Amino acid sequence: MKNYLRATFEATANIAVVKYWGKRDEKLILPTNSNLSFTMDDKLKTRTTVVFSEDFKEDELYLNGQKIDLNDQSASERMIQLDLVRKSAGFNHKARVASINCFPTAAGFASSASGMAALACSSATAANLKLSNKELSILARRGSGSACRSVLGGFVQWHRGKNEDGSDSYASEIFPASHWKELVNVIAVVDSEKKKTSSRSGMKQTILTSKLFEKRLQTINETIEDTIRAVEKRDFESFAKLIIKESNNMHAVMLDTYPPIMYLNDNSRKVIDKIIELNENKGKMIAGYTFDAGPNAHVYTIENNLEVVKETLKEIPGVKELIVCRIGNGPKQLTNESEHLLTVEGKVKDMFFDEKTKSIISR
Ligand code: PMV
Repeated sequence: MKNYLRATFEATANIAVVKYWGKRDEKLILPTNSNLSFTMDDKLKTRTTVVFSEDFKEDELYLNGQKIDLNDQSASERMIQLDLVRKSAGFNHKARVASINCFPTAAGFASSASGMAALACSSATAANLKLSNKELSILARRGSGSACRSVLGGFVQWHRGKNEDGSDSYASEIFPASHWKELVNVIAVVDSEKKKTSSRSGMKQTILTSKLFEKRLQTINETIEDTIRAVEKRDFESFAKLIIKESNNMHAVMLDTYPPIMYLNDNSRKVIDKIIELNENKGKMIAGYTFDAGPNAHVYTIENNLEVVKETLKEIPGVKELIVCRIGNGPKQLTNESEHLLTVEGKVKDMFFDEKTKSIISR
């Protein structure tokens, strides 16, 4: 075996259209319901390099150039993937991990899906594990639930699964990115504040306190089937209506949680009003919104209506920035020496995300 094992991947965010909100197993990160998302293109991506070596004394993580304290519980929980990879590879080498989020600053985006997917791909590859997409998705899931969907491109379903060990809870591609090329996601950035409630603790509280949540679970499989059918037929009108109702449903359940969870703010609600008004004025659905655990709006539309949707969103006071994402193909391995964030011996290179050129460059 070589002394140093290295791999670098980029993975992108995904935006759920039928949401994951609730775990049936906290430790294994198993969801209470199946869910659906589109993987985005590289407007929102994370690049991660992993080096394993028997020379390293302990695991080290560098995020956007800063060393992260792995004694911090939430950081170390997310690094569980390294232990799982070591176990499968049959070695005990410690790892050095460097990760850069290529997200617009001040957008307040959660980068856990792209980050944990990039970590799964790069750690498994560095350790020479030849994992199937299913195994890779299960590995990413252990870092963060939604990350299990970002190891694939296109339209993705995370299957709830029934097994207690989580072996059947993974994501698979339903349609490739090429299936609906006209679909666009316009992110209306309205806020940059840090999340008040983490999705982890919020979901837990919902299960403990919300009666409405049981009702949500009774109808969610029907919503999934209807949404898959709408995407299959590229039926935007049905798709938009379904995702609006589904997002509202999740946020209603959040509000029904005690203490209540409110991720939407006044600016989010202005976006909601404007989108409903736009569709009414046009006499058909040309845009559909969805919100995750934060106030930024993800507005799905199709290419022909992109300009009018952008103009509408730009007019809303409180919308600071628009990010236009198209559907992406999933993680990508990078093999050029200049692209790795760590040298072959695991030394951290002085690299950063340059907002002007939208690329990762050396300082
Ligand atoms: O994987 P987490 O813990 O970041 O949870 C994400 C949950 C939502 O973004 C609210 C919904 C989803 O399905 O992505």
